[in-house]
Formats: sequence, structure tokens, C-alpha cells
Amino acid sequence: MTREPSHTLFPNSLDASRTRAKPFGNFHVLIKLAEGAMGVVWVAAPWDRLTSDALVVVKTLRADVAAGPEAEAFRDMFLAEARLAMRLEHRHIVRTFEAGFVSGSGYFAMEYLRGQTLHRLRSKLRKHGSLPLDAEVRILADTVAGLHYAHTLRDADGAPLGVVHRDVAAQNIFVPYTGETKLLDFGVARASATAEAHGGPIALAGRVRYMAPEQARRERSDPRGDIFAAGLLLAEAITGDRFWKDGSDEAILEALRENRIPDPFHADHDPALVKIVRAAIQADPDARPQTIHALRTDLESWLNRRPTRGDLAPLRGTMATFFAEERGKAERTLATLLEELAGTAPSAPAPSEHRILAAKPREAPVYPASVPPATSVRSAGELDGTVDDAPAPALEESAKSAAPAAATSSGTARQKSTIPVPLIAAVLVVLAALGWFLAHR
Ligand SMILES: Nc1ncnc2c1ncn2[C@@H]1O[C@H](COP(=O)(O)OP(=O)(O)O)[C@@H](O)[C@H]1O
Ligand SMILES: [Mg+2]
Repeated sequence: MTREPSHTLFPNSLDASRTRAKPFGNFHVLIKLAEGAMGVVWVAAPWDRLTSDALVVVKTLRADVAAGPEAEAFRDMFLAEARLAMRLEHRHIVRTFEAGFVSGSGYFAMEYLRGQTLHRLRSKLRKHGSLPLDAEVRILADTVAGLHYAHTLRDADGAPLGVVHRDVAAQNIFVPYTGETKLLDFGVARASATAEAHGGPIALAGRVRYMAPEQARRERSDPRGDIFAAGLLLAEAITGDRFWKDGSDEAILEALRENRIPDPFHADHDPALVKIVRAAIQADPDARPQTIHALRTDLESWLNRRPTRGDLAPLRGTMATFFAEERGKAERTLATLLEELAGTAPSAPAPSEHRILAAKPREAPVYPASVPPATSVRSAGELDGTVDDAPAPALEESAKSAAPAAATSSGTARQKSTIPVPLIAAVLVVLAALGWFLAHR
């Protein structure tokens, strides 16, 4: 399946005329943010917290897709996305905190990010020369850090999940006005334990413009496909231009299948960075860095040698000025909708229609500054095997399952305690060192 986003029609521009607030599970859906090939992305407010700082993003399966001939396949893909999204807990990946069904249709809820996709930054800022190379490399190095985490994710038993994003693209990289760069949209991501690994059909997934040759040939995709996509994004950062120019998808696919990868660099481009990027966009996956961690290390050392060190502060200043009007309009629109809602005294959701499959605290756990985020999140594994085709549950069961998440969104949740894995690891290391010291005294 190839996907070109239709959501670039209204990228992050909030248009109040498009929709009116509608109750949806624990939320009131306020406005449509984007609509892609599979899902619809909404800004929503928890029904019991109608304030602008409590807003969330809810992603649902498109109604026409859910009712179409391939409904089951899309539904499975959407549930796989929800399941994976709930597992991911990293500073450079958007945070998902709830997944479930409302009236039989799946959804998941994420933090609402205020900012712009890298795609939009490129199209708005480049022509003014306001998107410096160092800033783009910083954004992409952070994206690569998020990908490294996803690639090395393990299940609760410690077995590698073999996650590959498969749609690493400027549209799926989000740069908030304040805060860290976030990777979005694991919609076509695949864990190796799925159909592909078991000899199932290999679908063409992700955007053609960032696809790796082996994906175009429908050979098995592995993390090195994401390395290739990150390499193309970096090449575009260096040249300030699209990698595949105006070629049609068919022409690009043909070039990819024949391992014809252009080399768009010239003498003015930074040779050290070009060397890193050339390695990442090798047609033969064996000739690329074998893990995305290697790419990350190279990018970090390149950034460290730059006078700016990839500091994003100047870009944030540009974004604050450039998008001030758009941002102000969005906030005013949302504030108006919230006020209107508050005036109509919203009531609690109808439990019979709402089934929560998994929920965790809305806020991210706070890690000590020196400890990197966990590489496996046991608490989110509860979604495994829970998201299925089971019919809507009986009323009492729904009411029971709806309660904790309602509390979660009000901030008074009976929360599942999550001890960060790095903390446990640090304690174990200290204990082991102590044991060794005592034994060798
Ligand atoms: N959590 C979020 N906060 C703000 N905007 C978001 C969020 N998630 C998605 N978006 C916006 O919606 C667009 C589509 O979301 P995405 O998850 O990529 O769905 P699709 O499968 O349709 O590509 C993104 O490109 C981004 O502009
Ligand atoms: Mg997307």
C-alpha cells in the first residue's frame, strides 16, 4: 500500500468551521487536525477538564476505511499501531496514554503537541533561509535517537520486538514550539513477529519518496530501511531540495528497484556530513551502517564539532515569530470551543459505548537527567493480546473499565506504579559492584 497524505491540505491549521465539539468516549472532540490514508487526527478535551492545557490528540480510524472492503486489514493495522504506540516511552516519540473503542471503533489518545512538522518547517522557512543546516541535523539526530529506541525495544520477557517504523518522513517528524522533537505515526510500523516474518505477504508500506530499495522490491524490511529514510532526510537537509525532485512515484520505484540512487552532493557541501549521509543511503543495506545507533553517533560527533552544537534556540525564535499569527489563531479557536463546551455543562460519557483497553498516566514519567529513557516499558505491555476482535463487552464490564481512564484524564488517577527501568538497572549495578567489592576485599 502506498500512502500520500491528504492531510497536507490543512496541516495543523485549526479551522473551527470544520467541526463542532462532539462527545467521544472520555473526550469531547473539538477539531480535525489532519486526515490521512487510514486515520483521522483530532484535538480533543477530556470531558471533565475543559482547559487548554489539558487538551489531547485522538486518532481514529477513518469511517470510510472502517466500512470499506478492506475494513478488517485496516482495523488490524490500526490496532497494531495503537498497541505499539502504547508501548513507546521515549523523549523523542509522541506519547500515547490511552487506547480503546467507542461504539465499536478504535481510537488512541496522545499528548497534544503545539508546533510544526519538519515538512511544514521546510516549506515555510527554507525559502527565507531560516532553517539552518545545523538545526535540521539536530532535529534529525533526535529523530534517529527515537528510532534507535524503537528498533531496540523488547517485550516484557526481554525478547526483541524488531520494530521498524517504515514511514520515516518529514510529515511524521514534529518540532514543538517548546520541547523536544517527536517522531509520530507508527501507523505502518511493523514488529518482526508479525505476518512478514512468518512468510506472509509483504505490503508496500510508507511513502515512496523515502523508501529504501529493498522495500521497493518488497523484500523483507528491517531497521536498515529506516536508516535509508533518515539518510534521505539528511540529504535533503544538506541540499535544501527534495531528494527525488519531481519524479513520479512509479519512476522513483523503478529507480529504487534497480538500485539507482542519485548522488545530489557537490563540493560546497560539508564533506564530513556528506560522508555520513552517503553511507546511510547506500542501495545495498549491507553497505549502510548496520544499526541506527551508529548513524546517531556519527551525527552527534558532527554536531559537536559545529560552533552551534545544533542548538535549536535560534530556530525556536524564528518559529515563535513566523508562526505567531497561526498559533494565536489556533489557541483562540480552541479557547472559544472550550468556553462554549463549558457553557453546555458536559456530562460523563455513556459507559455502554466506551471500552478502554489500556491506559497509563497522561504525563510522561520523569527520568533523572543523566539516565536515558527506558528501552522497554513493561507497564504498557498490558495491551498485548487485549486488543482483539472481541465483541463489545457487557455494560458492567465497560463501566468498570471506563472508570480508571476517566480518573486518569482528571489527573486523580489510580495510577499503575511505574518504576523506570534505568533506575532498577542502576540499583542492580550498584549492588553488583558492592558484592564484587566485598568478595575481593
Ligand atoms: N500528537 C499530535 N499533536 C499535534 N499534531 C499531531 C499529533 N499527531 C499527529 N499530528 C498531526 O497530524 C498529522 C497526521 O498524523 P499522523 O499520526 O502522521 O497520521 P497519518 O497516519 O494520517 O499520517 C501529522 O503530520 C501532524 O501534523
Ligand atoms: Mg503521518
